[in-house]
Amino acid sequence: MEIAFTLNGTPQRLVVRPDASLLEVLREQCGITSVKDGCAPQGQCGCCLALIDGSPKVSCAMPARAAHGTAILTLEGVSAVERALTARAFAAAAGVQCGFCIPGIALRAKWLLDRRPSPTRVEIARAIDVHLCRCTGYTQILDAIALLAAARRGEPIPAPCAEGRVGRPLARVEAAEYALGTRPYVADLSRPGLLHACVVLSPHARATVLAIETTAAARVPGVVRIATAADVPGSRWYGLLHDDWPGFVAAGEEVRCVGDVLAAVAAEDLHTARHAASLIRVEYEPLPPVLDPADSLRPGAPQVNPRHPNRLSTSVIRRGDAAAALAASAHVVSGTWQTQRIEHLYLEPECALAEPLPDGRLQLYSQGQGIFDDRRQVAAFLGVPEDRVLVELVPAGGAFGGKEDMSVQAQAALLARLTGRPVRLALSREESIRLHPKRHPITLTYEVGCDADGRLTAVRARLLGDSGAYASVGGKVLERAAGHACGAYRVPNVDVEAVAAYTNNPPCGAMRGFGANQAHFAIEGCMDLLAARTGLDPWEIRWRNALEVGDAFCTGQVLETSVGLKKTLLAVREAYDAARAAGRAVGIACGIKNSGIGNGVTEWGKCRLVVAADGTVSLYTGYTEMGQGLLTVLVQFAVEITGLPAATFRPRVDTRFALDCGQTTGSRATLFGGRAVIAAAQALRADLDAGHPLAALAGRVYAGEIAVNDTTALGADVPKVKTHTTFGFATQVCILDDRGRVDRVVAAHDVGRAVNPALCTGQIRGSVHMGLGYALTEALECRNGMPVSFKLRDLGVLRARDMPEIEVILVEDPEPEGPFGAKGVGEIGLVPTAPAVAGALEAYDGVRRYSLPMSDSPAARAMSVGRRHRAADGAPGAVLPGSRPVPSAGPVPATGSSS
Ligand code: FES
Ligand code: FES
Repeated sequence: MEIAFTLNGTPQRLVVRPDASLLEVLREQCGITSVKDGCAPQGQCGCCLALIDGSPKVSCAMPARAAHGTAILTLEGVSAVERALTARAFAAAAGVQCGFCIPGIALRAKWLLDRRPSPTRVEIARAIDVHLCRCTGYTQILDAIALLAAARRGEPIPAPCAEGRVGRPLARVEAAEYALGTRPYVADLSRPGLLHACVVLSPHARATVLAIETTAAARVPGVVRIATAADVPGSRWYGLLHDDWPGFVAAGEEVRCVGDVLAAVAAEDLHTARHAASLIRVEYEPLPPVLDPADSLRPGAPQVNPRHPNRLSTSVIRRGDAAAALAASAHVVSGTWQTQRIEHLYLEPECALAEPLPDGRLQLYSQGQGIFDDRRQVAAFLGVPEDRVLVELVPAGGAFGGKEDMSVQAQAALLARLTGRPVRLALSREESIRLHPKRHPITLTYEVGCDADGRLTAVRARLLGDSGAYASVGGKVLERAAGHACGAYRVPNVDVEAVAAYTNNPPCGAMRGFGANQAHFAIEGCMDLLAARTGLDPWEIRWRNALEVGDAFCTGQVLETSVGLKKTLLAVREAYDAARAAGRAVGIACGIKNSGIGNGVTEWGKCRLVVAADGTVSLYTGYTEMGQGLLTVLVQFAVEITGLPAATFRPRVDTRFALDCGQTTGSRATLFGGRAVIAAAQALRADLDAGHPLAALAGRVYAGEIAVNDTTALGADVPKVKTHTTFGFATQVCILDDRGRVDRVVAAHDVGRAVNPALCTGQIRGSVHMGLGYALTEALECRNGMPVSFKLRDLGVLRARDMPEIEVILVEDPEPEGPFGAKGVGEIGLVPTAPAVAGALEAYDGVRRYSLPMSDSPAARAMSVGRRHRAADGAPGAVLPGSRPVPSAGPVPATGSSS
């Protein structure tokens, strides 16, 4: 059908499908990229916002035909003056992280400010309620909109910081482009002759595939190629640590989860590809799925994955004699804690674009967290040498660990190879949730003892994690959970065992915190129980046991430098005492998180500085930008060393140089990438100091590489245990109001050195936002291995109006092994949050909660998404049929004894 509308002041007349959404037409037919697809057709993330006849509408939920006769405004059509003010406000407030949500929010802000030039913060938060941001925690977005309001009223606002030395709040690289939606993500890239692709996923968590019939689909006009397992020329199985994940499941094999790929279709347009995919007939013989990790480990259980027994890993830490120490302890508490499966919900779903090059090589554009791992796995999948595949990172719209594993890179590459044309393969939100690994649900059973003075004597813990259908990095997550089982405390006797098990649930792998969050929920709960048992104040018992220089971490590593935990405890003391004195319910928790993978893994930092003829310097690194601000921080290291302006540096990530650093994981990119940048920058500085102007150095390449290979494996029999390079530390305080709602969080973090205080603060605020959702409202419930809902609201991620005040206190205890003393801050921000909330809730209503999310609590009920989440489930804390049994959210009696 033909429709006509005015787009950004220009008349349009288009032929569209009757069922096409306005978003699809704007993006695919009009070339508008400020409207993003975060959840189409749900209409629940706000990324696709457009103004239709002056009213804000989510364009993914609006049929294009309904736009006939309307005037449509997108950010592209906003006046140049307003665009400049918008970009300036978001950059100055550090309101942009991954940026995927920002164009929609910026347009909403324009609409709001056109009507209310001086809105309150509450009004701003309400106005952006339909918009989801997974990165920022909203505070700095509200700051940006408040700045924009001031600028539109003619008031002066601060300029974005352009000064890039270490310690300065340099504005994020490309902040303006992100804010305005002009910086493309993979799904925004196009090429002449581009084909659009989609995948066919298994509807069963476990079944035998009897046949895959593609004939009818192949006959659909516009379909160019359908690929199945039979088309894979190389190794069909890939994985980061175990090659146990097939890019396609073949006929005759079993599907192992509802994210398994059976076929992929490339067509002239996405609608045709999806229609053809719906015609592919896969015949299954369903089999009973293995849904409980405990069942998975029982003798006789079906083997979930043909390439590995059901016990994926066992991690053991034993120091001293925990049994004897517990028997001799003045007080012992015990209990079982249960955490839930969590969806990352980065706003940008997975997408890859593969393009055959004239010389026969393949160019891949990836949003992955390790493009060199992408290259290795894609090359093996295609059966070609690695140098036949080039990969360029397109900075991701969020990742949080969920883009470490391959998603659709291999299928896009294969279709490009088979068709000889560029292919873009993007997942829908539902497909994304089904396919990528989640945060592990873990059952944690603890016994913890202390002496009469409240000093810890022993920790005995057993952890069992559900790793789902594929290994991903699940074994490492449970290893990390084991290593953090004692939290940030000095414990002389340790007996910890952590097991990861395969099931037919969605795979679980890396997610911000990487096992530390689950362990902290349990150990911090034990600290609260011991405080009650000993009569000590919860702050005091933590102070008495807090790790200091010279103490041993859970793994036995003696901490020699940069242990700022007690500084963080002191930093929150005033707020903690004042809130308690005011009669508020208050919870407190400490946190520790490794910086660097460690555990015997050799880690790398690699950088190349390439001087260009135009006086700029390209800064190549092997680590990924996914919203955390890594590239900005790396530029600051280069500025600090060379003295050149920040604008000189152009950060890039691709496989042009051999800069394989592995995954951007474990809070290590700043630590190791930063050291490599410093090394390269020192070489450039030497030439500058020798009197060479930068222009005369055009074409020179300065290399910086560092290798860190002095960590030891868990349980290694070595004279000196050093499981990790360094650690971040934190203390968080959660304060409730008189109705039991979270009113304020005070987060004090030892970051070593705040290289960029604005970005550092933003990382912690965003983490606390994620941590509050983890504590109260978030869960990915599954029934028979299938998520029960793909609706964003049902996942429980907090909206702007739900957010309390978050006060961030940056503590600097410099790490000698870190660049200018810095350590990683990407993960630790939410490690103490859930236990701090649990402590506050117990102070409020006397109920000690042992399972997440604490959806029965007044704090959860006060959240707008908390209400929706319960409505979707039918009942608070409901256990869904077929899902993993979750212990009651009510109190599990903690057993204690005094001797
Ligand atoms: S893509 Fe339209 S609201 Fe999410
Ligand atoms: S900055 Fe909002 S989703 Fe990433």
